Amino acid sequence: MSGKDRRAGRKAAFRGDVAAQAAGALAKALWWSGAGAAAKAITRPTRGEQVGRFQPKAPPTSRERLRRAYLEAFAKDARDVAAGLYPPSDDRPGDVGELLRQAGDFLNDAREVDARRRRGDVVEVRDQAPSDAYPVYYRQNFHFQSGGWFTEASARRYEAQVEALFSGAAGAMRRRALSLLAQAWRGRDHRGLTVVDLACGAGGFLRDLRSAFPRAQAFGLDLSAAYASRAGREAGAATVQANIERLPFADDSLDAATCVYLFHELPPRLREPVAAEIARVLRPGGVLAFADSVQPADEPELARMLEAFPAFFHEPYYGSYAETDLPALFGRAGLTLKGQDKAFLTKALLLEKPLPSPSSRTV
Ligand SMILES: C[S@@+](CC[C@H](N)C(=O)[O-])C[C@H]1O[C@@H](n2cnc3c(N)ncnc32)[C@H](O)[C@@H]1O
Repeated sequence: MSGKDRRAGRKAAFRGDVAAQAAGALAKALWWSGAGAAAKAITRPTRGEQVGRFQPKAPPTSRERLRRAYLEAFAKDARDVAAGLYPPSDDRPGDVGELLRQAGDFLNDAREVDARRRRGDVVEVRDQAPSDAYPVYYRQNFHFQSGGWFTEASARRYEAQVEALFSGAAGAMRRRALSLLAQAWRGRDHRGLTVVDLACGAGGFLRDLRSAFPRAQAFGLDLSAAYASRAGREAGAATVQANIERLPFADDSLDAATCVYLFHELPPRLREPVAAEIARVLRPGGVLAFADSVQPADEPELARMLEAFPAFFHEPYYGSYAETDLPALFGRAGLTLKGQDKAFLTKALLLEKPLPSPSSRTV
């Protein structure tokens, strides 16, 4: 085959990748928007007594901004695939049988979630989890979800819940952090680089990390045994069950860490020590690719929606997260802001642990 043929073949494969990404994203958006709408129709969360507990301050959400922000998440994702920053995601819907099972399980459970929401029951799970193994703040039904973070069924259902909540945009939003890391690592030999996905949940983002950096050593960490083992299977990666407050890694030992959707679930008193703990394990020159909810100041036209989130999805620490100055928080831990991005309801930051200045190096 001539060089010209090979280049033409590569171009065709690339166009196929981009088209596959777009088709997958569309199918996913339709599927999970439908599942989310069905769950709302079954449970009618905004018609219950919890509505009385929700006292919004922000003006109503702008539908137009919401639509544009949603589409922007897919557009940015497609642009990064087209730019070769990372391969097309394989989080598009799988086979029909598996999809139906996932959606059926999610919808079935939605009634239980809603019953818990209406009772205002956020500690059902407290007695199911040993108090010596898990901190008190962790032993709650975050999102009112069945089993909290403790059961295999919860871990199996988690991705469906997140995708239904964000109408199929969760993967695309999380990949803002992947995009920042891929830009930071572009042109580097990934062999021998290590990256850990902290609070990896059920492994959706860890799978993206593995496929973007197949030569690097990517692994996951989560405090939940059920989620850590689910993530390991999903991503085909090693995972460890551990508390992020005390990472089981040596000082200056990792090239990168990622952390997605954890900080809004940490009690405010823990955010500083956890940021410092992440900084401790990064090598000088190493980076943290962070992603979490946008804050009201980032998206004033969506602020009402951000206010509603903790009221309808038990998120006890979200209010303080919404007001946290994240670059300042990580700055106090010694990490410097190097890049940022946002898509729909997620923002991402790239933070670097600086190399020692030449004058402070010993000779
Ligand atoms: C909202 S989920 C985010 C999961 C995943 N990163 C994602 O993108 O969907 C929060 C995760 O943080 C984990 N987590 C919460 N507190 C933790 C802690 N102290 N140490 C380690 N993991 C923790 C939970 O078990 C859960 O899997």
